[in-house]
Amino acid sequence: MALLELSDLRTWFHTREGVVRAVDGVSLAIGAGEMLGVVGESGSGKSVTFYSLLGLVPSPPGRIESGRALFEGRDLLQMPPRELRNLRGRRIAMVFQDPMTALNPYMTVAAQVAEPLTVHEGLSGGAARVRVLEALRAVGIQDAERRMDLYPHAFSGGMRQRVMIAMALTTSPALLIADEPTTALDVTVQAQILDLIAGLQRDRGMAVALITHDLGVVARACDRVAVMYAGRVVESATTEALFDRPRHPYTEALMHSLPSTADAGAPLRAIPGMPPDLLGERTGCSFAPRCAHAADRCRTAACALVETVPGHATACIRAQAGEW
Ligand SMILES: Nc1ncnc2c1ncn2[C@@H]1O[C@H](COP(=O)(O)OP(=O)(O)OP(=O)(O)O)[C@@H](O)[C@H]1O
Ligand SMILES: [Mg+2]
Repeated sequence: MALLELSDLRTWFHTREGVVRAVDGVSLAIGAGEMLGVVGESGSGKSVTFYSLLGLVPSPPGRIESGRALFEGRDLLQMPPRELRNLRGRRIAMVFQDPMTALNPYMTVAAQVAEPLTVHEGLSGGAARVRVLEALRAVGIQDAERRMDLYPHAFSGGMRQRVMIAMALTTSPALLIADEPTTALDVTVQAQILDLIAGLQRDRGMAVALITHDLGVVARACDRVAVMYAGRVVESATTEALFDRPRHPYTEALMHSLPSTADAGAPLRAIPGMPPDLLGERTGCSFAPRCAHAADRCRTAACALVETVPGHATACIRAQAGEW
């Protein structure tokens, strides 16, 4: 059984311009101990999906319209806010994109990393310090005993991200949600942070949802992948199967936009065409206007995510029909 099973989540924003269907029927699952990569271009609904699970979508204008999110057998979307807050940071932890803004500049690192322990386990003083030290060492912070009493500004970007991860780990969560944890960092540090997360996943049997717009990161670290486009998952598969044979034209286009090893360092090639409009009701496949394989019926037919091969699902009706 999956640790987290999300089905048909819809999170819409009710704005003056109309209803923005940011998340419009997302289904995905994460197994215990598994690392799931969630990829898709900017605005595809990756963050809003996971914010919805944790009750972090600003409301108004956001509203969870429908869906079910079973975590350890309970529906997160139906949970009273108090209970959800208690679960958050204890069983599910989240690491954000920008460690500079996520840490409080006026609190020492030790005090911040200790916070979840104080809130969830009632630990303070020496007992909390021991656990903080353990966590800081686990994420590779050298000389932690001395450095824990410094303020965040004394740490580099990569080290601050390590501090965020240490904070997330203190309560041994079953699921870590990492939202673009490496985008703000330079390439070498990115690789170190990814290796750190992958190592923790392996050693602690912790499940990870790794949100990224970088397929290279997915190839390197993830067991499975969910590809998002315009508020939906359009393809999901094991990483191996996805790279071996993508079964959605959007995934194929994403792969073509990756620089090959031959021109390493070259900028990403953008996918031609306009990003989708999320306002109002959509018919047919949202990717059809940019799709190299689209047929007329793609613009009108419903396109549900269907498993065409065991463990490999696609929302492309032409792939489902075996037409490409
Ligand atoms: N408060 C809000 N009001 C209106 N629309 C919103 C709000 N928050 C998010 N959205 C819209 O929801 C859509 C999905 O946003 P989301 O942040 O989930 O994208 P993302 O896939 O995480 O992108 P990125 O890779 O840039 O982080 C976007 O089109 C965004 O404009
Ligand atoms: Mg995001």
